[in-house]
Amino acid sequence: MILLDGKATSNTIKDEIAEEVSKLKALGKKTPHLAAVLVGSDGASMTYVNSKVKACERVGFKSTLVKLEESISEEALLKEIEKLNNNIDIDGFIVQLPLPKHIDEQKVIMAVHPDKDVDGFHPTNVGKMALNLPTFLPATPYGILELLERYNVETSGKHVVVIGRSHIVGEPMSILLAQKRKYGNATVTLTHSRTKNLKEITLQADMIVAALGIPEFLTGEMVKDNVVIIDVGITRVDDTTKPRGYRLAGDVHFESVSKKASYITPVPGGVGPMTIAMLLKNTLLACSRND
Ligand code: GUN
Repeated sequence: MILLDGKATSNTIKDEIAEEVSKLKALGKKTPHLAAVLVGSDGASMTYVNSKVKACERVGFKSTLVKLEESISEEALLKEIEKLNNNIDIDGFIVQLPLPKHIDEQKVIMAVHPDKDVDGFHPTNVGKMALNLPTFLPATPYGILELLERYNVETSGKHVVVIGRSHIVGEPMSILLAQKRKYGNATVTLTHSRTKNLKEITLQADMIVAALGIPEFLTGEMVKDNVVIIDVGITRVDDTTKPRGYRLAGDVHFESVSKKASYITPVPGGVGPMTIAMLLKNTLLACSRND
């Protein structure tokens, strides 16, 4: 069993990006600038956004954190987004999801200018992604493709089972893996909460992307020998033995599944850090378009 080390790989990617930024600066070109909008004070969202800002510092990007009250109206949030759309120094920005219930997430996603949508969530960019046209790929599926590439894990002709159909991970992942592209060309089965006989399907998988958000859902008896496992889940599970009072659990029961897997991502230190690295890559692309 080989661990797909997202932490180490993301550090390599960040080093590569830092090198690019140094070159840009030496040529007197624009420094990439990413902004992140955080609404409210959800613990996990705050952690993710802080990691994104820290990653910007690490590679020499400028960053701006826009912190807004949980109670902000949809209208006021849309105004903040318009300001970011119009700020020519900002190359790209993200609005951390989920948003409070009184705000229409789709409306917010559609308010972000597609050229600054480094999350790749705007319908224009989703459409381009689905048509295999150049665009910002959503960071988590993009990070998974990059991890597979850097470890030379072949997907062509393989049966990949994706569990979960979220717009952020499962749906784009299933599209990208099926496309005619490097680390695509897979036969993809997209499964979800209404799927019947899931275990029968996962037992046929050469690779499984678990992105359903249920801790330790996928167990050893649901997978065949030599399966490749990509664990996207990262849930805080109460654990009084830990100083913070919780531990981070993936969607995969690591102990039983890792015994059968050929490759597997750990949680934490697998997909999570790759997501952040690819957000930086998208921001670099946005900046180069603005140059
Ligand atoms: N919430 C969970 N994942 C993501 C992501 O990739 N981008 C944003 N903006 N919010 C998220």
